[in-house]
Amino acid sequence: MTFEEFYGTNYAKMQKAQKQLQDMVYRYEKQVNKDDLNPVMYLSSRIKQPESMLLKLKKRGFEQTLDAALHDVFDAVGLRVICSFVSDVYDFVSWLRRQNEIEIIEEKDYYTCPKPNGYRSFHVLLKIKEGAGKDLHAEMQIRTIAIDCWASLEHQIKYKKELSNEQMIREELKRCADEIASTDLSMQTIRDILMNG
Ligand code: GTP
Ligand code: MG
Repeated sequence: MTFEEFYGTNYAKMQKAQKQLQDMVYRYEKQVNKDDLNPVMYLSSRIKQPESMLLKLKKRGFEQTLDAALHDVFDAVGLRVICSFVSDVYDFVSWLRRQNEIEIIEEKDYYTCPKPNGYRSFHVLLKIKEGAGKDLHAEMQIRTIAIDCWASLEHQIKYKKELSNEQMIREELKRCADEIASTDLSMQTIRDILMNG
């Protein structure tokens, strides 16, 4: 199924919403230019594939309709903001909270409360209040580059039907996540010392 077949005339607006939010992040990058380190390392975004949206609606017990896709779940439009340091993650979220263009519906801080598998990230569910994407919802995931790499690897497990050593792999991934968190913290400390010293 194509994007247009599922999202219909909303698809064009969703693309505009995606662009609008990308532009917001670019604006942030221009505004904040501290110590020659990019506040955002890179940005990626996507519109959720129809198949994956239908699966999610089913899993959540919602009707598999366009209306549910746009109103019952909030991540039809998704952006990922990748930063160098944990403080960049929080700085970006603070800035986001001050933007009148959007309304934040929910924040999930998996840095403060990591998932049992070790996942750390900051998620913001939002609604666009004005501009080309007005009234559409979106999800932003903000995290450090090291955890982003980890999340891509961990995500691969979902595609494996049979996995020998699954328990061992999950334990190793958990260990990696915790080591990354510890390294992120150490690098943050070094950076703070270099900046303030
Ligand atoms: P869905 O997972 O999207 O059904 O929503 P949720 O209610 O569980 O929200 P959550 O904020 O936990 O997850 C939203 C998105 O974050 C997911 O679709 C993934 O892209 C990402 N994510 C959340 N948890 C994990 C995780 O444990 N591993 C990885 N790799 N990604 C995750
Ligand atoms: Mg989830």
